[in-house]
Amino acid sequence: MRTPIIAGNWKLNKTISEAVESVAALRTLVADVNEVEIVVAPTFTALFAVAQVLENGNIRLSAQDVFWEDRGAFTGEVSPAMLKDAGCDYVIIGHSERRQYFSETNESVNRKAKAAHAHGLKPIICVGEQLEDREAGRTEAVIRDHVINGIAELSADQILSTVIAYEPVWAIGTGKTATADEAQEVHTFIRSLLAETYSDEVASQVRIQYGGSVKPDNAAELMAQPDVDGALVGGASLEAESFAQIVKAACR
Ligand code: PGA
Repeated sequence: MRTPIIAGNWKLNKTISEAVESVAALRTLVADVNEVEIVVAPTFTALFAVAQVLENGNIRLSAQDVFWEDRGAFTGEVSPAMLKDAGCDYVIIGHSERRQYFSETNESVNRKAKAAHAHGLKPIICVGEQLEDREAGRTEAVIRDHVINGIAELSADQILSTVIAYEPVWAIGTGKTATADEAQEVHTFIRSLLAETYSDEVASQVRIQYGGSVKPDNAAELMAQPDVDGALVGGASLEAESFAQIVKAACR
């Protein structure tokens, strides 16, 4: 009953013309897919142009970050309403690279998630432990901290249109994927946190993506896990062909 969601996080890649060319190719490759929600997240500068190519199609647009204020003296920031205006339905919030390099905290993630919802933008909230957390047996403690504080004060309706992306930091861009069992274990734990915060019924409807070195050859096995509802894909989303293969692996 949960529609799988496959999102491509392009990070700091592609000029406007490269982005347009890539989504035009992707649009053709996934034209017949309707059982999976497909999302691409280009850089801010390419959003509007990409939105034009995606019009009336089956691919949704996401930004990679957002600020929580609507307007004002916040040089360099982009508001939720501006992203809606550019054609976005989704926004990635709290990616580990933003936590690591740009001082993102659970508190800022939460403010951004609330602001996104206030403007009808659906957040994809990223959570995940570092390698040393996992080795020290702190995975669940870190995930609890990221999830509970990241979603604080979101209503049940808002959490239903929020996507949680579990991305173990040690698996991002390293070629090292969590095994399907490792992913399933953390996804079950995240769902239990949602049940504890809302209800079993609400928790059973929230989509939880896995991210971290998802490729065409490991996507099907990850997606076959009962609590893995899609993928947040970095490197393998840059080529339309490999991203389309991952999308197709999620078609059940
Ligand atoms: P990766 O990135 O697929 O290149 O590991 C995933 C992500 O950072 O979202």
